[in-house]
Amino acid sequence: MKNIAILGYGTVGSGVYKIINDNNSHISRRAGEDVKVKYVLDLRDFPGDPVEEVLVHDIDTIIEDKDVDIVVEVMGGVEPAYTFVKRALLAGKSACTSNKELVAKHGAELLQIAADNKVNFFFEASVGGGIPIIRPLIECLTVDHLEEIQGIMNGTTNYILTKMEDEGADFDTVLKDAQDLGYAERNPEADIEGYDACRKIAILSSLAYEKQVDFEDIYTEGITKITTADFDYMKKIGASIKLLGMARKEGSVVYSMVAPFVIYSDNPLYNVKDVFNAILLRGDMLGDVMFYGKGAGSLPTASAVVSDIVDAVKRQGETADILWSDTKRQLGSVDAFKTPYFVRIKGADAKDKVKEAFGDVQFIDSDLDETAFITGVMTGSDFKAASAGLEVVSRIRVSA
Ligand code: HSE
Repeated sequence: MKNIAILGYGTVGSGVYKIINDNNSHISRRAGEDVKVKYVLDLRDFPGDPVEEVLVHDIDTIIEDKDVDIVVEVMGGVEPAYTFVKRALLAGKSACTSNKELVAKHGAELLQIAADNKVNFFFEASVGGGIPIIRPLIECLTVDHLEEIQGIMNGTTNYILTKMEDEGADFDTVLKDAQDLGYAERNPEADIEGYDACRKIAILSSLAYEKQVDFEDIYTEGITKITTADFDYMKKIGASIKLLGMARKEGSVVYSMVAPFVIYSDNPLYNVKDVFNAILLRGDMLGDVMFYGKGAGSLPTASAVVSDIVDAVKRQGETADILWSDTKRQLGSVDAFKTPYFVRIKGADAKDKVKEAFGDVQFIDSDLDETAFITGVMTGSDFKAASAGLEVVSRIRVSA
C-alpha cells in the first residue's frame, strides 16, 4: 500500500482526489500496489465533502508521518510550495507537482535533492496540463538534438484567440468565460501577458538543452495587443495567430521567447483551437513530432499528476535520470532572433516607403487606412532599424 498526501484541494487537487478514488483499481494495478489518499492539506474546511475524512490543516502531520510515501503539491505559487516539497523530499518522500512556477524556479535543485534522497521529483502536469510531454522528452526523445520547440502552452489564451478569430468576440467577455470554465489562473495577467507560458517554456528549454534557463531571461509578450483586425488580415493569407512558447538552438546558442506568432495553415499548430494545447518538437533525426491535448482544467491536469504518482510508486528506491543542471544558460538576445514579421503601418499609400525600408515584402490587401505586409526573415534589431521611420500600428512575428 502506498499512501498519498495531496497539498491543496483546489481545481487540480480535487481532480487528483477524484481520479485516485474513481479509477482506484486500475491505477493500483498499473502501479503494482494499492494507492490510497491518506491526507489532503488545505487551509479551508469542506463541510459535507467526503474529503473531510482525510483533511488536515498542518503540513507537519504529513511530513512527520512515515507512512506517507508520495506528496502531491497542487497549491500553485512558489511559497509555501517550495518549502513543503523540499521538506517532503528530505524526509524521503517522492513529490509530484503541477506547479510550473515552482518547477521553473527550483526544478534543478529539487531534482538534485530527490536524487540525494533516492526518491523522485516529477512534474508532468507542469507543462501542457494533461498532455504527456515531459516524460516523452526525457525518456523517449533521447536520440535527437532538438532544433526547435514551438508550443501552444496556455489554454486560456488559446481559447480567447480562438473565440476572437471564429466569432469576432470581445476580449474581456471571452476571458470571463475562460475563468468561469476554470481554465484561467487566479490572476488573469499570468495568462494574457504570457507569464504562465513563460514558466512552461523555461521548463522545456531547461530539459531539452540540459541547463537552467531562467524564466526571467525569456523575452515575453502577451496577447493583449491582438485585435480582431489582425485576424481579418490572417483570413486573407490563410493564417492564424497563436501565443507560442518557443525555443530554438542555432549552433551553440539557444533562443527562447513567448510571443504571439502568425501561423500558416501548413503548421500543425494552426488547427489547435480552444483550450487545447500542443507542443511541436523538431529533432534533427526525427523531424517534427507534435503532442496535443487538454492543457488546462481539473481532470486533464490531474490525470498527468496521477501518472506521476504511478511512476513514483513503480520506481521505489530508484531515482529517474532527469538531466537538468543548475548551471545557468545564457540565452541568445531577442535582437538577434531571426524571423519574418507581419506589420501594419498607418496610411494606405505607404507601399513605396515600405519597400525602401524593408526591400521585397508580401503586401496584404487592407480594408483600413493602413498598409499591411509580411517581411522576409530578419533579426529583431534589423526590424527595429527598418521600422524606425514608419508609423507602426502593430507587428507580430511569423513562424517560419
Ligand atoms: N491557466 C493555465 C492555462 C492553466 O490556461 O493554460 C494551466 O497551466
